[in-house]
Amino acid sequence: MHEPRKIKIFDTTLRDGEQAPGLNLNVDEKLEIALQLEKLGVDYIEAGFPISSTGDFEAVRTIAGAVKNCAVVGLCRALPGDIDRAWEALRDAAHPRIHIFIASSDLHMEYKLNMTREQVLEAARTSVRHAATLCKDVQFSAEDATRSDPAFLGQLFAAAIEAGATTLCIADTVGYSMPEELAGLIVYLRNTVPGIENVQLAIHCHNDMGLAVANSLSAIQAGCTQIDVTINGLGERAGNTPLEELVMALYVRKSYLPTETNICHKQIYRTCSLVSSICNIPLPPNKPIVGANAFRHESGIHQHGVMKNPLTYEIISPETVGVKRNGIVLGKHSGRHAFEERLLEMGITLSGEKLENAFRRFKELADKKQYVLDRDIEALANEKMTAI
Ligand code: KIV
Ligand code: ZN
Repeated sequence: MHEPRKIKIFDTTLRDGEQAPGLNLNVDEKLEIALQLEKLGVDYIEAGFPISSTGDFEAVRTIAGAVKNCAVVGLCRALPGDIDRAWEALRDAAHPRIHIFIASSDLHMEYKLNMTREQVLEAARTSVRHAATLCKDVQFSAEDATRSDPAFLGQLFAAAIEAGATTLCIADTVGYSMPEELAGLIVYLRNTVPGIENVQLAIHCHNDMGLAVANSLSAIQAGCTQIDVTINGLGERAGNTPLEELVMALYVRKSYLPTETNICHKQIYRTCSLVSSICNIPLPPNKPIVGANAFRHESGIHQHGVMKNPLTYEIISPETVGVKRNGIVLGKHSGRHAFEERLLEMGITLSGEKLENAFRRFKELADKKQYVLDRDIEALANEKMTAI
């Protein structure tokens, strides 16, 4: 049996995730999510795109100052002004990373960048070289890499390595790739790009055809060790690889694909419901891992099986991801003591006015619903107290 390979989780909820249509997070909301991501154990938090707005700059700067146990990342185009602005936001971070991207497909180079291949190569070289004088951790991403000429992509990656990039990322920007095809591209790059064995290789998948998790798993099998994800799969169009699904697939199928991550699985449900509540984007009931039905068994045959042995129909126990079995906790006859107990069991500490307000909202809710579920309590605890 092989030693498990360490897989680094790069969370981009606060950057690519925030590009989900209609989503706009303020600095306080971003900080609250970042602190929960730190508890969850992600390795990298991409906190924003500092040159894009003052709000994004402030968010990256605030998170860089507050988060100690994960690297904090700021996105830039391959332009000196973007890189300087990102560094200004990141410089106080315990572990800063500058992330530079430029498109590598002929389609994007012609219609979006209006640049030739030679110009893109030069922009990559000079921008990575500049970033490397500021920060020792520099990620270079090729946008639309999966629709690029593989030979040109290889040349671009070789230039970025020579200029000082420490991580290279293959972006499946429009979710175009098929799992085996993506693995083939990664193997080709690993076999042909000089120096690639000395850098971290990352994959960034979008979910346009529902293949983001499958593509990310395939990329891991082909040698990628950093996986870009977002909580609840938030992101442009159909979103990005959902952290909770990818991490749990790795955990459940560890014997098939021996890997390990730094994720604290018990924090998964908490993180997903916090992000859902702050972003005001409800989780679909059939959402894998964290949807309301993910651990419910409706048919009599299934219920009977699960009562005899949960393994019959459950490949993950709800407790593993921080969900209490059956989820039914309290109703309108429950008192303050039971409410407080349940909060504590769920790892939520509220006191004083916040506790009073949450309890009052709980009672109002219990009057309208037969049962108040864990996910309702989670939402109550996460509600902005001013709104209560
Ligand atoms: O999807 C994409 O190409 C991106 C890049 C900025 C890495 O998000
Ligand atoms: Zn993306």
